[in-house]
Amino acid sequence: MSDSRICIALDFQTKDEVLEFLDKFKDEKLFVKVGMELFYGEGIEMIKLIKERGHKIFLDLKLHDIPNTVKSAMKQLAKLDVDMVNVHASGSIAMMKAAIDGLNEGCKGDKRPLCIAVTCLTSLDQEVLDDELLIHEELSDVVLQWAQNAKEAGLDGVVCSPLESMVIHENVGKDFLTVTPGIRLASDSVNDQKRVTTPAMAKDLTSDYIVVGRTITRASNPVETYKEVYRQFQGEYK
Ligand code: C5P
Repeated sequence: MSDSRICIALDFQTKDEVLEFLDKFKDEKLFVKVGMELFYGEGIEMIKLIKERGHKIFLDLKLHDIPNTVKSAMKQLAKLDVDMVNVHASGSIAMMKAAIDGLNEGCKGDKRPLCIAVTCLTSLDQEVLDDELLIHEELSDVVLQWAQNAKEAGLDGVVCSPLESMVIHENVGKDFLTVTPGIRLASDSVNDQKRVTTPAMAKDLTSDYIVVGRTITRASNPVETYKEVYRQFQGEYK
């Protein structure tokens, strides 16, 4: 499904594990997420191998540095012809604008990768904001403000909980993309995410993309599980 809005998190350590997983899907065109674990282990070669098979890639490296460095780094990532990249919104509007400039330079007139922002990591809570980071606003207000900053910088959306999608769409714009992890099937055994949502709930909550990892990668039948997730989130599976 080349139109897939289900982003499978390839949280594997090695190229061999990734290829073994992708082989199960035969000619199916997927949308996959490559994170730091896999990219730092297998590098650009991994990206090329996945692209050769015709899959779309969200390269989840969460850039955060001075604007000039982020611009140069994004210029390089755009040359990999990936479909989505991300930055930390806490790096500032200037840094996010620089990310877009770098992507535009690197993709040389081709379609630039979507660029989304991480707002507050889900591992942070109000106590950490207050006591360590000296941010005394409500966490939900911080998420919304940082999403608005991302929009102002020209980014395409944010990573957030499905439970935050509606408020972000209402306040930042319907077209501003929400990319949402924390997805589980009702029957799932993996349950270490704090607040989880089924694909059907994420659809009702207006998520644009869902990020699904272990529910699919560790399923006894990943292809059938993917189809079930697809049916719930996108409708009939052809
Ligand atoms: O296996 P699981 O479905 O929990 O994987 C979710 C993926 O989404 C992982 O790659 C994880 O790093 C990522 N993620 C997340 N929560 C966030 C941001 C990213 O689970 N807030």
